[in-house]
Amino acid sequence: MALARAARIILVGAPGVGKGTQTERLMKQFPDLSAISSGDLLRKNVRERTPLGIQAESKMKAGALVPDSMILRLIVNELTTRGWIFDSTVRPYSVYSSSMAMGEDDTVDTLFIPSGLRASRYTYSDHPAASFVLDGFPRTAVQAKQIDDVVPINMVINIQTPSEIIIDRICNRWVHAPSGRVYNTTFNAPKVPGKDDVTGEPLTRRDDDDPEVWKARLQAFKDTSQSLLEHYDKLGVLWTVNGNSSDEITPQIFEEFSRRFGALAN
Ligand code: AP5
Ligand code: MG
Repeated sequence: MALARAARIILVGAPGVGKGTQTERLMKQFPDLSAISSGDLLRKNVRERTPLGIQAESKMKAGALVPDSMILRLIVNELTTRGWIFDSTVRPYSVYSSSMAMGEDDTVDTLFIPSGLRASRYTYSDHPAASFVLDGFPRTAVQAKQIDDVVPINMVINIQTPSEIIIDRICNRWVHAPSGRVYNTTFNAPKVPGKDDVTGEPLTRRDDDDPEVWKARLQAFKDTSQSLLEHYDKLGVLWTVNGNSSDEITPQIFEEFSRRFGALAN
């Protein structure tokens, strides 16, 4: 289905609620959409042993959030590289610069987007082809305010499922690390056990899919999500969906998404 206008959506929800799963389904149903997963981007940096990945690794393994300044640079760099936003100063970002060291001070790097340039530094397209889903970013109100200055998000999908149901899924999750494709041995099993459907490469478990780490991730979500959701509620773009299974959640997302973005059958 083609879109009538650009969709710039974010998915918010507890760890394991199905953000990655719903993102994959949205992209299949609406080919205008592309996606960035903040977690996948971070894991790629960890795998490739970049300075940023090395710094992020311990936080991720502990189930804590990485600093806002680090994730903002990473995401804005990715948005620019993919051509979804344009930086009018045309100065490439130094994503892995030493100024990204993770210190105690978690405040946003004010040099990142000079306030005097905020209104004019970035431009974006409203063409449907410039539509995107951000899975896992922003996840604090600080991150949300910063991305507002770069590109306005026009739909926030807040996915809610009881935590008792989610923990079971996490124990059965397997991933294809290079692509971020997600499987579940009971709900969404790969065609060949242990192998990615597309490449045939081996599936692995995520380092942070341990029940104790998951509890820390859930706590981090509880600590930060309320102010994040309030921010988007005030902007009038928040939409909440409840359900225990994908069969309940996916059709509701498709319907609301189509209604808002005027999706037309090809
Ligand atoms: P991230 O990778 O984003 O992890 P998360 O938010 O904890 O979410 P998950 O990826 O675990 O779950 P998901 O909601 O995508 O669920 P999935 O579809 O896989 O972040 C990891 C870490 O990176 C963070 O802890 C933090 O350290 C850091 N980070 C990332 N972004 C950051 C940011 N913005 N700021 C700071 N730090 C950041 O589904 C889970 C399982 O359930 C799968 O097995 C799936 O097959 C199954 N499943 C999914 N949906 C259903 C369904 N409806 N019914 C049955 N089973 C289902
Ligand atoms: Mg995910």
